[in-house]
Order: sequence, then structure tokens, then C-alpha cells
Amino acid sequence: MAKRIVVLVSGGGTNLQALIDSVKSGYIDNGEIVAVISNNTGAYALERAKNAGIAAQCISPKDYPSRDDFNKALLEGVSAYKPDLIVLAGFLVAIPPAMVEAFPRKIINIHPSLIPSFCGKGFYGLKPHEAVLDRGVKVTGATVHFVDEGTDTGEIILQKAVDVMPGDTPEILQKRVMEQAEWQILPEAVRRFVNGEI
Ligand code: GRF
Repeated sequence: MAKRIVVLVSGGGTNLQALIDSVKSGYIDNGEIVAVISNNTGAYALERAKNAGIAAQCISPKDYPSRDDFNKALLEGVSAYKPDLIVLAGFLVAIPPAMVEAFPRKIINIHPSLIPSFCGKGFYGLKPHEAVLDRGVKVTGATVHFVDEGTDTGEIILQKAVDVMPGDTPEILQKRVMEQAEWQILPEAVRRFVNGEI
């Protein structure tokens, strides 16, 4: 029985697309993306899900009187799909502790740096890449890790290094990290998980 995967997104969804393509190609051979949920109604990732015939849903904090009510709605919304694995693919909302407790070692996240460098609160979008260039490191990359109560603090699953090149801008570096690292190690981590290897 294929493992049930729910993907949480906030933006363009290129990591989601890598997962969709990996399921389609059979690289992820024992998993099915049963739903994509975003906190952002305008997330192109939701279009990608619809184009792939996957249930796409928006659960937005704006629709709830409090963060606590949103957190409850998010946990209910995700749980309704009975996921074996929850993947945060560019999801910019803090995962409620109740969700971490409900799905121990069943939530994974992709972060665009080599944790423990350039991670934690505020390190999202272009910010990790800007910090990499400001510090002048010669190697960066991406990390897939289990999600715990902290921010980018869970057990590391996979990492892949990417060279920083002379003349890189944050945008150029972000694209290289996505192409050469994120879109490789996230599908690999999901494949390993659904095959019971991690
Ligand atoms: C990626 O850089 C990912 O590492 C980070 O957020 C970005 C999401 O991009 N978590 P996309 O929505 O997958 O294109």
C-alpha cells in the first residue's frame, strides 16, 4: 500500500514539483501525494497540485480569529488526509507543537543551507543565500531534516553541498542550490522514508 504524503507549501512550489515528477517517474515508488495544503491562497504551488490532479487546499491564518484557531484548523486539515508523511516544501508557517506531537518523526523539511549554518528564525527565502554571500563561505547547499519543536533543529536526514561561484547574486545562488541540491535530496529523502529506510 503506497504511503500517504501530504505536502505543505507557501510559494512557487518547485520542490513540490520535484516530488510530483519523482512520483510520476516511479523514482518515489511507494508513495502517493494525497494533498497539498498552503497558508497562501496565491501560492503557485497550489496550481501545480491542481495541474497534477492532486487535492489542493488553502488554510490561511487570515481566516481565523487567532493563531490558536489556525493551528487547530491546520492540524485537523492535515490529519483528515491520514498522512504517513508530511513534507514541508517551502512552508513559511511555524508548525504547531501539537502537530509535531501528533506526527513524531513523520514531518520533514527542506532548508536551503547546510544546517547548522545559516538557519533558524528569519532564515527563509533569499535570506540564507544573502547571509552565505555576506559571510563569504565557498560552499553552501541544502538540508532535509525531521521537524521537531524548534526551527531547523530536528535530526538531519540528508545534505548536499553546492559551490558558491564568483559573481553569485542571492538569486543565482538560490537557483543553483535548488537545481543541484534541493530538487535532488528532497525526493531522495521521501523515497527513503516511504521505503522504510529512515
Ligand atoms: C526553497 O528554497 C526551500 O529550500 C525553502 O523555501 C523555498 C521554497 O521554494 N524552504 P519552492 O516553493 O519549493 O519553489
